[in-house]
Amino acid sequence: MNKRAIGNLKVSEIGLGCMGYSHGYGPTPEDNTSIKLIQKAYDYGCTFFDTAEAYGQGHNESLVGEAIKEFRENITLATKYLIPELPNDKKEAEKVIRKHLYDSMERLQTDYIDLYYEHRRSNIPIEWTSEIMGKFIDEGLIKGWGMSQVNADTIKKAQETTPITAIQSEYSIMERMFEKEVIPLCEKLNIGFVPFSPLASGFLSGVYKKPSEYIGDDVRRVITRYKETNQKQNQPILDVVKEFSERKNCSMAQISLAWILARNEHIVPIPGSKKYDIMIENFDACTIKLTKKEYEEFNEKLNPLKIYGNRTGEDIAKLKYLDK
Ligand SMILES: NC(=O)c1ccc[n+]([C@@H]2O[C@H](COP(=O)([O-])OP(=O)(O)OC[C@H]3O[C@@H](n4cnc5c(N)ncnc54)[C@H](OP(=O)(O)O)[C@@H]3O)[C@@H](O)[C@H]2O)c1
Repeated sequence: MNKRAIGNLKVSEIGLGCMGYSHGYGPTPEDNTSIKLIQKAYDYGCTFFDTAEAYGQGHNESLVGEAIKEFRENITLATKYLIPELPNDKKEAEKVIRKHLYDSMERLQTDYIDLYYEHRRSNIPIEWTSEIMGKFIDEGLIKGWGMSQVNADTIKKAQETTPITAIQSEYSIMERMFEKEVIPLCEKLNIGFVPFSPLASGFLSGVYKKPSEYIGDDVRRVITRYKETNQKQNQPILDVVKEFSERKNCSMAQISLAWILARNEHIVPIPGSKKYDIMIENFDACTIKLTKKEYEEFNEKLNPLKIYGNRTGEDIAKLKYLDK
């Protein structure tokens, strides 16, 4: 895979989202199977791995740490802290975040993180967060930093104190809310953009089931994108995706990733899969190049289509009220 620049970091054009090995998509593989998958991703040329302390309450970081330890120096390792309630005092808040960072590094078997994200906005001012991240960079604990699901104003404020490496937010053919302001702002400020759920939790592959057929902590049980009525109403979008996949002789998932890659040179999607063949299919999407004309045509067909449903934190929170 070729490399792309996100801020000050160079990563493979497509990264690997590791969340599903611990969290979010129902039953998880045996740890050894997940570790081998992550290692095979590296063998295939993937050098960008995404995890978070919240995925399986540390389990995912431990898994990733074990998998990458032999080639740690050759990859870009991204993780996230999630602390909704920090002390309302800059020094105290820094102490708490620092503790989370050290705990993540321990689980990841490393003494630095390449890209450290704030998973969701904490209660402290963004200026404080940005300053604290700047300190961690100066101390060599992290190489760059970012945030997830934030708006343009927050990015502008944060950028003034410590330049941001990347914003990781949901972006795909099915979720285009950041296209208006955030992605153009990232382009202007030389900030990378890392789309999560780039296949809309797999829906864009064209292979999906009824929500009631998913089990455990699978978000597809509760996100409105997967509601049966919305699955049906979103069929025109899948028809366009299918048409272009046939034109480019690739799978629907691959064309959906190629559509993301075509947007600009500093956008790096991180699809996730628990299956080797699917993971490789996704990486191979970087060989599908949409010309400017094809990309415009694709958008001309997509733009008028209404998107039904989405993937919100509020809907995902409903999982805890469902039977396992
Ligand atoms: N910042 C945040 O708040 C946030 C939120 C969510 C996720 N993330 C990160 O982003 C990563 C990716 O998100 P995601 O896992 O939701 O992405 P995704 O790739 O859109 O969805 C993954 C789901 O789609 C299926 N899938 C993937 N490729 C497929 C293909 N080619 N054909 C058919 N099905 C396919 C997978 O099934 P199989 O496993 O069965 O293949 C899995 O169930 C996560 O791993 C995590 O690191 C971040």
